[in-house]
Amino acid sequence: MSTILVTGGAGYIGSHTVHELNKNGFNVIVLDNFSEGHREFVDGLKTYEVDLCDVDGIGKVFEENKIDAVVHFAAFAYVGESVQNPQKYYYNNVVNTLNLLKVMLENDCKKIVFSSTCATYGEPKYMPLDEKHSQNPINPYGQTKLTIEKIFKDYDRAYGLKYYALRYFNAAGASTEKEIGEWHRVETHLIPLILQTLTGEREKITIFGEDYNTPDGTCIRDYVHVDDLASAHRLALQNLLAGAESEFINLGTGRGNSVKEIISSVERVTGRKVPTVIGARREGDPDILYASNEKAKKVLGWEVKYTNIDDIVKTAWAWEQKLHLKKSTN
Ligand code: UFG
Repeated sequence: MSTILVTGGAGYIGSHTVHELNKNGFNVIVLDNFSEGHREFVDGLKTYEVDLCDVDGIGKVFEENKIDAVVHFAAFAYVGESVQNPQKYYYNNVVNTLNLLKVMLENDCKKIVFSSTCATYGEPKYMPLDEKHSQNPINPYGQTKLTIEKIFKDYDRAYGLKYYALRYFNAAGASTEKEIGEWHRVETHLIPLILQTLTGEREKITIFGEDYNTPDGTCIRDYVHVDDLASAHRLALQNLLAGAESEFINLGTGRGNSVKEIISSVERVTGRKVPTVIGARREGDPDILYASNEKAKKVLGWEVKYTNIDDIVKTAWAWEQKLHLKKSTN
């Protein structure tokens, strides 16, 4: 049985991946500093409360366990905050990844699956976005992830580090099996924000611009279910453990939905009207982003289970209602 260290394993995508790995016979160890993660998401699993700025702390985890590979989620991921406070992002995302890699190499652990992002591409030049698209991030968050991708390339050449850098599009939805889902310190993502207008936590959802060059004027994004992301991480790990070479791979459904389509989907799924208001464009939002997932299908044998946006929204709604109850009883 392979032992896998999952950094940021108590976060949104991390916790779904942890359960996917656990279910598939991996021995999972979670590392999280719990600044964003939730203890109840990793109940019953071997967990270390360690911040990746603490090299000795990481060292202890590797001393106490024979780790075969790492899945590295731990990072800050608010685009807006990264513009306001880039230092926080470069230290936490880049320097802390260097710390993790240092300890991995010292312990001869040379396989890593990494959370990258479509934000590494920047302004899209063509659609669908494939892995060969140029990479010019337009915010520090995207820069940190691209920097780490470059570090991996150098470390592969010099030290034989093998990596799968998975570039996610818009993660959405929640597990239907476990009590886990999207629960951010500050919510900025479209689907939970819309759903929170229906739990009464928010008055209305502001549509950021309806004058984009799309059929209904609102931005189009590729919403991919978090359980599909989790299965891709498992497949990536299996490839690496079988001796695969390093890869960069997009994870998206290959199709996009506009902001207004997402609102309509929520209305269909919940049978309720969403209160909306049209606002200004948000800086840095391209009209359309969706993935080419041909490489993921070919290299990973990945199959997207959630191809219909209503099915994704259904799982997000089930979770949001549970979360609302949690928040109101805490
Ligand atoms: N949107 C609104 N109103 C809101 C929030 C969002 O209209 O209140 C719109 C945005 O303008 C965008 C779409 O909904 O068109 C999705 O926005 P999100 O903030 O949910 O997601 P992003 O596409 O901005 O962000 C995602 C990931 C980031 C990643 C980024 C890459 O969450 O981590 O894609 O572009 F960096």
